Amino acid sequence: MKKTISVVGLGFIGLPLSLSFCEKGLQVIGIDVDHRKIEQLLQGQTSVHEDYQGETLSSILQRHLQSGRFTPTSSWQDTRASQAFIVTVGIPVSLDGELNTAPLFHAMEDLGQAIKPGDLVLIRSTLVPGMMEKELIPRLKAKSGMEPGVDFHVAYAAERVAEGRAMYEFQTLDIVLGGYTESCAQAAKELLGELTSGQLHITTLSVAEAVKVVENAQRDVNIALAQQLARYSEARNMNVYELIRMANTHPRVHLLEPGIGVGGYCIPNAYHYLNASLDDENAMPLFRLARQINAYVPNYLMDRMAGELTDIGKSIANSHVAVLGLGMKDGSNDTRNSPAVDCTELLISYGAKVKAYDPTVTEMLPYQVESLEECLTGADAILVGTWQPEFSNVDWAKALRQCKPDVVLVDLKDRLTPYVAPYPSEVKNG
Ligand SMILES: NC(=O)c1ccc[n+]([C@@H]2O[C@H](COP(=O)([O-])OP(=O)(O)OC[C@H]3O[C@@H](n4cnc5c(N)ncnc54)[C@H](O)[C@@H]3O)[C@@H](O)[C@H]2O)c1
Repeated sequence: MKKTISVVGLGFIGLPLSLSFCEKGLQVIGIDVDHRKIEQLLQGQTSVHEDYQGETLSSILQRHLQSGRFTPTSSWQDTRASQAFIVTVGIPVSLDGELNTAPLFHAMEDLGQAIKPGDLVLIRSTLVPGMMEKELIPRLKAKSGMEPGVDFHVAYAAERVAEGRAMYEFQTLDIVLGGYTESCAQAAKELLGELTSGQLHITTLSVAEAVKVVENAQRDVNIALAQQLARYSEARNMNVYELIRMANTHPRVHLLEPGIGVGGYCIPNAYHYLNASLDDENAMPLFRLARQINAYVPNYLMDRMAGELTDIGKSIANSHVAVLGLGMKDGSNDTRNSPAVDCTELLISYGAKVKAYDPTVTEMLPYQVESLEECLTGADAILVGTWQPEFSNVDWAKALRQCKPDVVLVDLKDRLTPYVAPYPSEVKNG
């Protein structure tokens, strides 16, 4: 008989992970504290954007509600048939770097009361390194009254997938796994082996926790380097993307590309998780500097836009600015830590009138408008934030005619630049 598992937390990771296990024939109980989300899921609706072999996540969800393999619920009572619990509840970080561990700790306390002898608890959330042994396992032990590693299994394997490719990467990426005991690691390896054909690398709990945070911090540092190269290239009047493309022809050079900042739940949080695992918060100046460089990019770009408006006799406070794309990266509807949102909020704080258009982001932020036309009409400046799939089908030559003729464009990857004719200098200066 196929296993029954419970997935705790049905967000960007937990929902596609649950449905991936359903695809493999397992029974999955999905548990979330958000009652509204559970209602929506029970109706076959989700705002999480993934597709798998040409099928949307909503369609996969509907199939597995119908097949009876997936049961979304807010009640821990419904998890009784589970032999394994996979936790995907994260640790949000506030703008000033404060970690909110409450959701994860609550999940541990509820879980401690739900597990039975012989069950497996597998944590897949990104953690502050050291948290398994200091915080999570003691909570499970206290609430269950059972001995970890003896009465139940407990293990850690961070989730490494990228939003948008999750359903594929759950099945292909290698996983780094640490168990409380060797048999805990083996139990987790057996479960994960049902889903992935990637290699399962077993190590200590501490290394498994740190690996994930180090991977993300590495990307933060590399992107900060790319941002510095962007400033260098501007000073030398070069195209940074061409510079990086050429440098990457060397087999031992792997530069990433600069953008309008770094967004999402993973990379920007990594520094804060690493820092929280150390006593001395000044111990890692390189990581701190990288975070500061990346976090500052929206300020730099919006100051540049303000400067270009001033050059043509306008002020940002009297300008209409169109922001195209609000997701945290191209193709994403996740706006957590989105640099495009940061840019928009900065523009508003400078007094600009901002209209943002993003056909993928459905949450309708206060400055979001429903059509591209509404966004662009009368715009004095445009920021190309993130590039959504629908943008590739737009007739930009036509769409951009709705902007002012001397529109200022901040478009790092030159997607719209070819459609915006340079404004005649005598008019510009006159
Ligand atoms: N989003 C990504 O691209 C990504 C990639 C790799 C790893 N991760 C990691 O995976 C974890 C989850 O990320 P996410 O993006 O899915 O987060 P999310 O916020 O989208 O999902 C978390 C879910 O947990 C639920 N929840 C909160 N407290 C709960 C509780 N006590 N019991 C049950 N459910 C509870 C929330 O309602 C939410 O639906 C994080 O640790 C994150 O760092 C995320």
